Amino acid sequence: MSPPSNVIDGRALAEQIHGETSRRIVALQAAGVQPGLAFVRVGEDPASQVYVGMKERMSARLGIRSQTQVLPEATSEAELLRLIDLLNADPGVHGILVQAPLPRQIDPTRVYSAVLPQKDVDGFHPTNVGKLMLGDPTGFVPCTPAGVHELLIRSQVTLGGAEVVILGRGNIVGKPLAALLMQKARHANATVTVCHSQTRDLAAHCRRADVLVAAMGVAEFVRADMVKPGAVVVDVGVNRVHDPSAKSGSRLVGDVQFAAVQPVAGKITPNPGGVGPMTIALLMQNTVRAAEQASGRSGSTTDH
Ligand code: GUN
Repeated sequence: MSPPSNVIDGRALAEQIHGETSRRIVALQAAGVQPGLAFVRVGEDPASQVYVGMKERMSARLGIRSQTQVLPEATSEAELLRLIDLLNADPGVHGILVQAPLPRQIDPTRVYSAVLPQKDVDGFHPTNVGKLMLGDPTGFVPCTPAGVHELLIRSQVTLGGAEVVILGRGNIVGKPLAALLMQKARHANATVTVCHSQTRDLAAHCRRADVLVAAMGVAEFVRADMVKPGAVVVDVGVNRVHDPSAKSGSRLVGDVQFAAVQPVAGKITPNPGGVGPMTIALLMQNTVRAAEQASGRSGSTTDH
């Protein structure tokens, strides 16, 4: 008998969540509520086109009515804010997602602050960021860190007292994930270290980790000698690298050298097929919760 694989199947875990979300959507629809999600994309960033397309397709599959507003690259901040006002005022729109990155002339802080907190399924509004820091479960948690958290929980990874090392301190993944895992709550209580480009002896920090999360966006940065044997390794990175042997001339790789690290790790996420599907699953879950809250139904807090 071959030993059980240590590869975490993010697609299968995401499907579990979609099943739960789907049942909630059926219940909403039976009560006359059609969950609605609006995507806003500014410019033609190829990665953003792919991501929004994936989220649109999953919305359709689950029965969430989505719309996508595409604005030209030269859109002013004022124009984008006007569109957000319209979506805020639309009772058929329960969730709003403005895809990052935004063009240079637009200040993301102002944009994310303009989305109503109760429609902010991305969890980027200062109210939701604050609620996460305070441990208030009535806010929305950003989808990628929420997806990583859920992936760890559903893979039976012990977080209480664990040494978690996060590589990357961005607002979308590193900072909110640190807040989630350090909070005094069930399925948390970890000791979290956040490493970044100025961290001294980063490899030594990595080697102490029971759970190592790579989210700094450097292709194949994490080597086998940076991982403690038996550690759980989560790869959040999506990096396009030059590859003359590929038809397109490039390919996508994560932040972890998967083939080298997998034999050392206790558990490891593949990439693709690890964190990505979980991010989408948590976006769908956040959207359904926004619709439940807007219609005065249950589901007023994060789901764990
Ligand atoms: N760009 C990369 N990740 C995200 C995300 O989670 N939300 C949005 N809106 N944009 C992103």
